Amino acid sequence: MKNFIDINKNAWNKKTPLHVASAFYDMPSFLAGKNSLNKIEMDLLGDVKGKSILHLQCHFGQDSISLGRMGAKVTGVDFSDVAIAKAKELAASLQVDTEFICADIFDLPDLLFEQFDIVFSSYGTIGWFPDINKWARLIASYVKPGGRFIFAEFHPVVWMYDNDFNEIAYSYFNGDPIEEDLTGTYAAKEDALVTKTITWNHGLCEVIQALLSHGLQLCQCNEYDYSPYNCLPGMEEFEKGKYRIAKWGNKIPLLYALAAEKRSL
Ligand SMILES: C[S@@+](CC[C@H](N)C(=O)[O-])C[C@H]1O[C@@H](n2cnc3c(N)ncnc32)[C@H](O)[C@@H]1O
Repeated sequence: MKNFIDINKNAWNKKTPLHVASAFYDMPSFLAGKNSLNKIEMDLLGDVKGKSILHLQCHFGQDSISLGRMGAKVTGVDFSDVAIAKAKELAASLQVDTEFICADIFDLPDLLFEQFDIVFSSYGTIGWFPDINKWARLIASYVKPGGRFIFAEFHPVVWMYDNDFNEIAYSYFNGDPIEEDLTGTYAAKEDALVTKTITWNHGLCEVIQALLSHGLQLCQCNEYDYSPYNCLPGMEEFEKGKYRIAKWGNKIPLLYALAAEKRSL
């Protein structure tokens, strides 16, 4: 297989400056104190004050810093050096005590030697990995006994469609890598940037079974017929802060979110 890590890292390094400048990530509001987390994951996270949190694939740090502002001790990880440089700059200028590590998450066992009350990951994270068992093993290794993994993700049904949401183009199930040259990004749809990406689809039970197999017991699992982000083609806001693909309405799931607990020894 081509070196998917280098290809995807290059894409994220190029996308990050567009995201920092985008209306989607709304930096002026964030800098003024707006919390970037959504109700869906906030409800699962609960009160994070005083909790240690490992935030995987933190992009340029808005959610990690938001959790820090809520009183959590956060370590954010991302493999994009452009994103992590921005995250560190933001945390320093906002004086939020949040740590950031620039690394492929699968290299963490050589870099990070503690366990956390909560491991958190959200929205657009697992598609970058071919092997969900390896991912689940990594997560389980970083959750303290009695701690929780909190995860919010786009529904695998979303990734079955072509880019106009007209036809089923890809399998629901994990299979061959999906190689694409995409123009623009979810946060900068009109931009001319073209990036090559390599991704994989992961069905709901593939994810849940992998977590269960590594000792993470499901406490909650919900599917949603909307997204809190206007990030996919042809979306409309049907209620404040809730978006759907206009042509499919509430007929398809757009998200799922779960909490899983590592049993105490
Ligand atoms: C869609 S973004 C996550 C969005 C984030 N929740 C936010 O609100 O901005 C996916 C992130 O995964 C990161 N990523 C992809 N593969 C990775 C890997 N193997 N290790 C670490 N980070 C990775 C990318 O750099 C990117 O920042």
